[in-house]
Amino acid sequence: MRLSDQPLLSAETIQGRVTELADQISRDYSGREIVLIAVLKGASIFCADLMRRLRVPATLDYIRAKSYRGLHSGGPIEFTMLPETNLTGRNVVVVEDILDTGKTTAAILDMLDADHPASLVLCVLLDKPSHRVTPVHAAYVGFAIEDRFVVGYGLDFDEAHRHLPAIYTLVE
Ligand code: IMP
Ligand code: MG
Repeated sequence: MRLSDQPLLSAETIQGRVTELADQISRDYSGREIVLIAVLKGASIFCADLMRRLRVPATLDYIRAKSYRGLHSGGPIEFTMLPETNLTGRNVVVVEDILDTGKTTAAILDMLDADHPASLVLCVLLDKPSHRVTPVHAAYVGFAIEDRFVVGYGLDFDEAHRHLPAIYTLVE
């Protein structure tokens, strides 16, 4: 396995879209305060860039769910970290790297909804709609992509490549 020669999404393209998403969220939540919940580890880099461009007050917390083994998701979802923030009555934006089958994200949303937030929406950098198994609605989507395994900008293959500023596909 190696990285594609050309990035699927360049650093400039990603940064431009992250600014647009931050603008959109800032408009939608104007006059309100939000709680960002970044899904570890993949969303950490996306969330850091997104948060710095928001123009509404935002606090930050994390959730961590383990479900993904190598190239294929499967098995039950296990929460290895939960937010410390009390989400009751808050406006929550879950920040996720990629929406694939939707199983992990659906489990995360169910878990957070149990706290009865005032609102709960999902912001994903990448969406692979053709791979969806569990229906999940994302209020904010950076890019819809084909069903290819991608790495970089927080996304990993067995923990490698998260540091890359662009997003690449893995090729044989
Ligand atoms: P889902 O439960 O199938 O939607 O899986 C979501 C999680 O799988 C994401 O948060 C990623 O951690 C991981 N994942 C899915 N597709 C990819 C990919 O193309 N590259 C890297 N990680 C991925
Ligand atoms: Mg992830």
